[in-house]
Amino acid sequence: RAQRGVLLRDCDVIGFDLDHTLCRYDLKETSRLIYESFAQYLVEHKGYDKDLLNLTPTAWDFCATHGTRDLSQEEIIKHYGPKREWKHFNSLNSTFTRSAKYYFYDNYFDLPGALLCARVVDVLNKRGCEVTPDFWKDMVAAIDHNYNTSAFREDSGWYFPRVKRDPGRFLQPCSASVRRWLRGLKENGKILLLITSSHSDYCRLVCDHILGKDFEDVFDVIITNALKPGFFSLIPQQRPFRTLVNDVEDSEGLPGLEKPGWYSQGNWPHLHDLLKKMTGRVEPRVVYFGDSMRSDMFPAFSFGKWETVMIVEEMEGEGVARANPAPSQPAEKKSKFEDQAMKTPSAASQQWGSYFVDVQRDEGGEERLRLTWCSHCIHTYSTMAIPSIEAIADLPLDYKFPRFSPDKPSTTGYYPRPPDTLLKREENQS
Ligand SMILES: *[C@@H]1O[C@H](CO)[C@@H](O)[C@H](O)[C@H]1NC(C)=O
Ligand SMILES: *[C@@H]1O[C@H](CO)[C@@H](O)[C@H](O)[C@H]1NC(C)=O
Repeated sequence: RAQRGVLLRDCDVIGFDLDHTLCRYDLKETSRLIYESFAQYLVEHKGYDKDLLNLTPTAWDFCATHGTRDLSQEEIIKHYGPKREWKHFNSLNSTFTRSAKYYFYDNYFDLPGALLCARVVDVLNKRGCEVTPDFWKDMVAAIDHNYNTSAFREDSGWYFPRVKRDPGRFLQPCSASVRRWLRGLKENGKILLLITSSHSDYCRLVCDHILGKDFEDVFDVIITNALKPGFFSLIPQQRPFRTLVNDVEDSEGLPGLEKPGWYSQGNWPHLHDLLKKMTGRVEPRVVYFGDSMRSDMFPAFSFGKWETVMIVEEMEGEGVARANPAPSQPAEKKSKFEDQAMKTPSAASQQWGSYFVDVQRDEGGEERLRLTWCSHCIHTYSTMAIPSIEAIADLPLDYKFPRFSPDKPSTTGYYPRPPDTLLKREENQS
């Protein structure tokens, strides 16, 4: 792969994930909503302790532990061995697949579920119950109850009904600059794709709200219920594309993609054939924007050989502006909740520290700054990282972005600039 910079001008196709990529969410409101939608289910349908519904604002700082409590050094060694290695790490590290042995929480839709699991462990501990993995099946049932294929249409569960009633509370409309940018890409002959694992009905609600009623004119191809990462990785057992009538998938799969339009499920090779036809190129040049390492970056990079741009909102927790100049959004809406102390999920965690750099002390008490696993993955599987689409929307198409590369400093590839802790690490090293 060429080590040169990336220019959107040189790409034929520009693809986007929807949630947390084109559509920014109010992270405080949605995290709370997702947490509640699962917790309500456990309490009302599975008889769990009502205490799960009460969260202090500081609980949101959480990432992963035994319950919400940190493990002691002895406990870590007891459970993970003297080398402190988690035995499933290698399969996660190289494939990002899910497994019966662990669940990989990797995006803002998932994270509140991790907090809920930890709180369930707290509740079991408090009652003196043995903690076994049995509660996991109830978590899976909670996901199904809230997010299954018909939940949106049937207004069932706790998630969709509330977003439908008050989308402005959870979804942030694209700025005028982002809408202009999308139109500009089209006018410059780019093919625009939307590839989301959300279902068509929810996708329409989100796009109506963030882009306007005519959002379908913006995209050449819209793919919903894409079931990423399988969309990219399931070869040769790929799922066919399906047509949609009134948001219902045709039972019969398509043998291939003939023309642009709105489809469901599908697979990367059939999309690739269509893109070849549309661009008249043997190897269409595709750049793809997404927020998930597991569903977007890793598979689009590894299987699709696409250029990948990762949306990393955590950059905003480390001194990077969301857009330049700062957007004239109404300052933090006053929430109906008393959430003044609730931290934004993208801010650095008190309990865990930076998302990008891990501070460790060696024997002599010297500070050692090491890349976290998350930043290692970002640098390996994405071409570049930005805090939001807005951050690049005012740049000309021939702007040349530096790309991540093993032979360059780890700070290269972040636009408009690297997060604070990575800069600090770079200074320490030189
Ligand atoms: C989806 O979940 C709702 C609420 O639990 C349930 O009534 C409905 O039958 C489920 N639908 C499917 C297709 O699983
Ligand atoms: C796994 O992660 C570590 C960083 O935590 C990295 O050094 C190593 O190369 C990774 N392995 C693969 C296959 O990516």
